[in-house]
Amino acid sequence: MTDLELIELAKKASHFAYIPYSKFPVGAVLVTDNDEIILGCNVENASYGLANCAERTAIFKAISEGKRNFKKLVVIGDTEGPISPCGACRQVISEFCHGDMPVIMANMNGAIKETTVRELLPWAFTPMDLEK
Ligand code: THU
Repeated sequence: MTDLELIELAKKASHFAYIPYSKFPVGAVLVTDNDEIILGCNVENASYGLANCAERTAIFKAISEGKRNFKKLVVIGDTEGPISPCGACRQVISEFCHGDMPVIMANMNGAIKETTVRELLPWAFTPMDLEK
């Protein structure tokens, strides 16, 4: 699947967003090393702080289905420029995705920026840090 097709899928995933409070839909697509596709959307809560971002929804879905190896993450939101994952998501992404893995950030108007997990969260605290 091309990046543009993945972005289209992420946009479709954003239509499932549960966003009664922010009204701000976000969609994500996580691609496994076997080219399986996992969709994610943001899921909010009346207890506002419990909102789960689209990126983490996709990652938690994948992990809960036994999928552990990923090669790409795509995220889209209705932002001015390409949407930028929040700090909590960057930490969760760093737990499960290798540093060179591409992350494609997009908005609803066709703006696209590609970065990597390491660029998103340099000096991340990772499982390796617990091994000393
Ligand atoms: N949100 C995401 O799902 N991903 C991001 O990268 C940024 C923010 C969600 C959280 C909340 O449901 C809404 O967007 C507004 O912050």
